[in-house]
Amino acid sequence: MGKSQDLYKKAKKIIPGGTQLLSKRPEMFLPELWPAYYEKAKGCEVWDLDGNKYVDMSYMGIGACILGYADPDVNAAVKLVIDKGSMTTLNCPEEVELTELLIELHPWAQMVRYARTGGEAMAIAVRIARAKTKKDIVLFCGYHGWHDWYLSANLADDRALDGHFLPGLNPLGVPRSLKGTAFPFNYNDTKQFLKYVRKHKGKIGAIVVETIRNFEPEKDFIETIRQTAEREGIVLVLDEITSGWRMNVGGAHLIYKMEPDMAVFGKAISNGFPMAAIIGKKSVMQSAQESFISSTYWTERVGLAAALACIQKIKVQNVPQHLITVGNKIKAGWQKAADSSGLKIEVSGIPPLAHFEFQYAKPLVLKTLYTQLMLERGFLASTGYYASYAHKQEHVDAYLRATDEAFVFIAKAVEEGDSEKYLNGPVCHSGFKRLT
Ligand SMILES: Cc1ncc(COP(=O)(O)O)c(C=O)c1O
Repeated sequence: MGKSQDLYKKAKKIIPGGTQLLSKRPEMFLPELWPAYYEKAKGCEVWDLDGNKYVDMSYMGIGACILGYADPDVNAAVKLVIDKGSMTTLNCPEEVELTELLIELHPWAQMVRYARTGGEAMAIAVRIARAKTKKDIVLFCGYHGWHDWYLSANLADDRALDGHFLPGLNPLGVPRSLKGTAFPFNYNDTKQFLKYVRKHKGKIGAIVVETIRNFEPEKDFIETIRQTAEREGIVLVLDEITSGWRMNVGGAHLIYKMEPDMAVFGKAISNGFPMAAIIGKKSVMQSAQESFISSTYWTERVGLAAALACIQKIKVQNVPQHLITVGNKIKAGWQKAADSSGLKIEVSGIPPLAHFEFQYAKPLVLKTLYTQLMLERGFLASTGYYASYAHKQEHVDAYLRATDEAFVFIAKAVEEGDSEKYLNGPVCHSGFKRLT
């Protein structure tokens, strides 16, 4: 791990936290051995700074690169607008074009605003919802980014967010006066949701839910949320930043007949170029005019051109069908490899966002060992798999062959009783942690 780890050691001294995204920290995969930086990437292949090539069977740009790295069609659209001028004093027409397309795909929505990252788009959605209802309290479930409105939930109880995708998020720096403005409830837990609704009756401005991540939404849960929002005059926001575009062309809420007042897209909407969209009903979105929500780079042209080209390709190539097919193969392959090696794992997640967990006392040791063994075989791999259009049958076959070998090795290590002795470095982290 020559150049990459040297550079990362240097980075940690001059960039607090080492990287800009927790999920890209090498410590989350294989501390001291992960190829932290890349030189180039194409399809699902990535070259590190030492010229080593890997097939990425992990998170494909942490969920952004649904079509694969450096997709030729998206890149061509982006290059065109770069050459034509990606920023001027005037607005670019793609803004209206993308709005019309998003409204056409989501007929319940009539208006759209844009941002460039998921977390800020969610902050915009919450601002609009609070502006509309003139009420402060947000009930939410799932992960929604780093902004104050969300982390404030941990001011009330520093473990409140633990079940919501990233454990251990520290709200230091979030004004303590925000305590009591955001409360998490568990996905599909209708009873818990209703308990909060009763407790904060008359003060709730927004209900914020990740449409889907690990489990399908239950009918009763969906209906209760919708009915409560309508009855109490609360704005229902669906976060589609990770779920969108993978199961269908648009938000996954269309499949499950969830009817939001707003939905938020990011990540896969633009295949790796910064872009985020907040779509919504006119009656709610108009409140954005009454609050100040404005930023220079929300007007640039690259993100819009990338989104238009990306959505077009998702549609024409029926990318969601590919992601579901490949995801199902991976899930079945993991289970088969576990069964034949005698390892106990639990497989879950919707097919395009699949993952598994080792069912042993020290799952993180085994997770680290799996990543180490797969890296030795030329794969970026962890216990999660985000499907991409760039993953073809040959990649799936090669990856599952390598997984078979790795699982046999891990099963033997488990049987011996000291798996940790096979690790060439420290055990990976599981959530947020200060690095030094
Ligand atoms: C559901 C969901 N919401 C919000 C975010 C935050 O998006 P970003 O990292 O682009 O700020 C993420 C990122 O993982 C996400 O998965």
